[in-house]
Amino acid sequence: MGSHPQYEVFADEFVDHARDNLFNAHYDRPTCLALLGDVAGKSVLDAACGPGLYAEELVARGADVIGFDQSPRMVELSAQRVPAGRFRVHDLADPLDWLPDNSMDLVLFALALEYVDDRTRALAELRRVLRPDGALVLSRMHPTGDWLRHGGNYFDVRVIDEVWSRGWQVRYWLAPLERTCEELHAAGFLIERLVEPRPTARAAEIDRDDYERLMREPTGFLAIRAVPDWRQP
Ligand SMILES: C[S@@+](CC[C@H](N)C(=O)[O-])C[C@H]1O[C@@H](n2cnc3c(N)ncnc32)[C@H](O)[C@@H]1O
Repeated sequence: MGSHPQYEVFADEFVDHARDNLFNAHYDRPTCLALLGDVAGKSVLDAACGPGLYAEELVARGADVIGFDQSPRMVELSAQRVPAGRFRVHDLADPLDWLPDNSMDLVLFALALEYVDDRTRALAELRRVLRPDGALVLSRMHPTGDWLRHGGNYFDVRVIDEVWSRGWQVRYWLAPLERTCEELHAAGFLIERLVEPRPTARAAEIDRDDYERLMREPTGFLAIRAVPDWRQP
């Protein structure tokens, strides 16, 4: 939100938390990696790359990874974790003027859409750098879960201030599913797939209650694979 990198102060804690936990390692990452498909030999832009947990896996699968994040500490952690990747500090509010048009095979945008004020403009930049036959994979918090947690009008687009269980202070946008679909459309994408993920079997060993809840309720994340719509200018 804004130009303040809110993850900067807890970047080191985030990597410890997200490396092997249920929500990131056994729910979000398997889903987005499956939607990306075979990445061997492909160029992948990891937008809002965080500490490089995705980049590490993508490089292991043979991808050529460029990543960026608003938080300098996240970029440092990515560079340490994934020496074969190229990482830089960049805010999604700004144009990706260091990347040419049609230069990337795939763009990954995991669990960060919520933090961007002008999401259509950011998505349009991601589309600009994608090759015509490329694809964007994004994940976000499931809007139904957001609404069940926060109440109010499901259709309102509004900002939430929250303190998460680890004391992390976060500010993010709440938006209905329709808004994300409309933003993708306005940015020149066609939605190819929408997935409401289920956790992997390993998740049940980590936390049986969360596993069972995510197997029956839309209260976690969702993921979308979208392709450039070449009917749009
Ligand atoms: C929940 S983490 C997800 C990290 C990574 N994509 C993953 O799934 O492991 C959200 C990330 O988005 C980054 N972020 C938030 N707002 C951003 C912005 N405007 N531009 C670039 N990165 C941003 C944060 O710094 C943080 O690293």
